[in-house]
Amino acid sequence: MTLGVNIDHIAVLREARKVQDPDPVDALSLARLAGADQITIHLREDRRHIDDNDVRRIIENSQLPINLECSINPDIIETVVKLKPHRATIVPEKREEVTTEGGLDIPTYHEKIDSVVNFLKANDIEVSLFIDPTIEMIRASKILMVDWVELHTGKYANIHSMLYSNLKYNRNSIKELDIQRRELKKMLKNALEQLVIASQEAKNFGLKVAAGHGLNYQNVKDVANIKDIEELNIGQCIIARSIWIGFQKAVSDMIKIVK
Ligand code: PXP
Repeated sequence: MTLGVNIDHIAVLREARKVQDPDPVDALSLARLAGADQITIHLREDRRHIDDNDVRRIIENSQLPINLECSINPDIIETVVKLKPHRATIVPEKREEVTTEGGLDIPTYHEKIDSVVNFLKANDIEVSLFIDPTIEMIRASKILMVDWVELHTGKYANIHSMLYSNLKYNRNSIKELDIQRRELKKMLKNALEQLVIASQEAKNFGLKVAAGHGLNYQNVKDVANIKDIEELNIGQCIIARSIWIGFQKAVSDMIKIVK
């Protein structure tokens, strides 16, 4: 299993103040030293975190391969081809969403995706499609002759968090909670099974299989154990944890100076 570390959220923090720090480029060597296999970033149409200059600097400075997530918007694709990441992962994108919700709707956008895939491949960029873990989407991806599929783990992650994190805030009776818990356990098992079946099908079709979205320190183990998934892309929880790992030292460094 390999790990792609998504560093978008470093740029989210920088953009909250429109300053220069923290710079996602500074994360590259640290991620590599920690053992990461890949850096993942998302160039959104609204450039809300990573911008074109970040992508350019990240590609120039990284010793790890760069997996660039992007929509099929023609301007974005032109930019991606100029910047030449190792891989482009095509994701659906809506302006108003907080993060990527759901996988690509390949049947609806088949022709557009097909021409983007061909254009990227003609420019020597590996292509991945971010899809829901369904047989329909795996078959549609196979027809498009992409190198990778990345299975959306958001549904699994949401159910996991409802079951193990949110339930303690629930005001229902013990009996109602028990029913809810049993129901959620079934749903979680099904969501995991969908990932197992989809990854098997994709592998049988000769596609390489990645997975990601919403994975964290609590829920990642079962997904990492799925034998046909060879790469996970994880971001938000790593950046969140790094705050708690470094916060105390950051405060004490400041106290040393101000005192
Ligand atoms: N993979 C894809 C395709 C994504 O869009 C994202 C979120 O940008 C991730 C992985 C990482 O998700 P998270 O930040 O929830 O770990």
